[in-house]
Amino acid sequence: MTRPGDRLRVGVLVSGRGSNLQALLDASSRPGYPAEIVVVISDRERAAALDRARTAGVEALVVNPKDFADREAFDLALVSELNARRVGLVCTAGFMRILSAAFTNAFAGRAMNIHPSLLPAFPGLHAQRQALEHGARVSGCTVHFVDSGLDSGPIIAQAAVPVLAGDGVEALAARVLKAEHQVYPLALRLVAEGRARMENGRTVLNLAGASERASSALVAPDLRPLAENLEDLARFTP
Ligand code: GAR
Repeated sequence: MTRPGDRLRVGVLVSGRGSNLQALLDASSRPGYPAEIVVVISDRERAAALDRARTAGVEALVVNPKDFADREAFDLALVSELNARRVGLVCTAGFMRILSAAFTNAFAGRAMNIHPSLLPAFPGLHAQRQALEHGARVSGCTVHFVDSGLDSGPIIAQAAVPVLAGDGVEALAARVLKAEHQVYPLALRLVAEGRARMENGRTVLNLAGASERASSALVAPDLRPLAENLEDLARFTP
């Protein structure tokens, strides 16, 4: 049973570097943050994210897909590890697997993901490369509830960044990642406080009483670098 004042118990699914996990760990270590990370699960043994979890004193587990007959069995093992730790909400953070209905039904409205594009543009792999190939002038990142599609659930928060002349995949990915690290902790706060929830396949937002900073962060987490970037862009304009 949860008591008033209890923090929401969060499990994070990862596959690699874990910089978004780090942003969530850092946020959850701040006083007053309404969520705590109680377990980090990786599908890859060598994920650097596991070390980040352990350094923060958070339990880190590997659930190896090779140990299971199929995707459903693997997903059910994830569900069972999360339930065993009374996880109320799951954040996927660079978890590079598509979750089946076995998982998404168990955590419907209680799982969120971050993706490095302004969805519904550029779902799937290599989102930043896709943005560059399409000549997008604006990209960014999206936090959304997880459903059984690929990067397709209802959107909770987005942050926009410019695509600058001369950008390669690395430069754009770094700019987007900086925004990810700001917007994911914000979105988790909104969900943990009940200000964002999924209802009938849509996100319902209640921002009454939220600070101006929190509200504007749903669009662009930090306007100053954006303005600086636009000045840089102006230098390329004939
Ligand atoms: C992040 O850019 C995240 O948005 C992306 O993988 C990276 C993980 O970095 N996720 C996806 O592309 C999922 N479709 P991290 O491990 O440092 O957080």
